[in-house]
Amino acid sequence: MLELKHIHYSVTTPEGVLDILKDINLVIDDHKLIVFTGPNGGGKTTLAKIIMGLVQPTGGQILFNGQDVTNLSITERAKLGISYGFQQPPRFKGITVHDLLLLSAGEEKLSKDRCCQYLTKVGLCANDYLDREVDVSLSGGEVKRIEIATILARNSQLMIFDEPEAGIDLWSFARLTETFEQIHRQQDATMIIISHQERIIQLADEIVVVAGGQVANRGTTEEIFPLILANTLGGCPVLQKEESK
Ligand SMILES: Nc1ncnc2c1ncn2[C@@H]1O[C@H](COP(=O)(O)OP(=O)(O)OP(=O)(O)O)[C@@H](O)[C@H]1O
Ligand SMILES: [Mg+2]
Repeated sequence: MLELKHIHYSVTTPEGVLDILKDINLVIDDHKLIVFTGPNGGGKTTLAKIIMGLVQPTGGQILFNGQDVTNLSITERAKLGISYGFQQPPRFKGITVHDLLLLSAGEEKLSKDRCCQYLTKVGLCANDYLDREVDVSLSGGEVKRIEIATILARNSQLMIFDEPEAGIDLWSFARLTETFEQIHRQQDATMIIISHQERIIQLADEIVVVAGGQVANRGTTEEIFPLILANTLGGCPVLQKEESK
């Protein structure tokens, strides 16, 4: 179980202190699939990075399976079973896809069959990719899919995916949603998926809407999805004012 208690994050800018996350409180039970959604700049990625330990909160506490992990490093949290896939994954010159999968699986050897299983889940063929370097020669969508495959190889208890749909073609996206569904069905892991995609939102046990650095709403897909749709149909208040003149 993951518990976020009064999470606060602020940064100091030339204009003064900017509150990015304001008193976030959440409890996420094991084996759930939770989708964080909400407007751009709402605070979703910052929150995910705080859970992974990439960003240190300025206030509050994070408990994972009852243990206070607030001051633990990324590596220590990874060892406890938390993993995070970046919205924009980094590239690693000189490291092959096979090296990355091996590192993620934490084993001494990883058979081609096993690599193939992970890569197939994101719509890639091991024959074409295992020996490729994860450098600029790979397309954005390929890097994104390889990173998701490395998270699957890590076999973590809590997997956080930051906009897994970004830059991914329709065929691979369909394969990926099937993979999420399967992990969820088999209760293999808890998943937090940051997404703007209707198809992923529909898979969720619960949707958490993060806006303005706060949990603006949370509930089941049936409860929240109509509200999101209604909200996104709203016009620009400035233009509406102009039009009514
Ligand atoms: N170190 C920082 N300094 C200044 N502003 C920051 C910093 N980190 C985050 N922000 C701001 O905090 C807000 C939340 O950013 P975040 O990346 O968490 O949003 P998001 O919900 O993931 O958005 P998106 O849907 O576009 O990915 C943004 O306005 C961002 O510019
Ligand atoms: Mg983001």
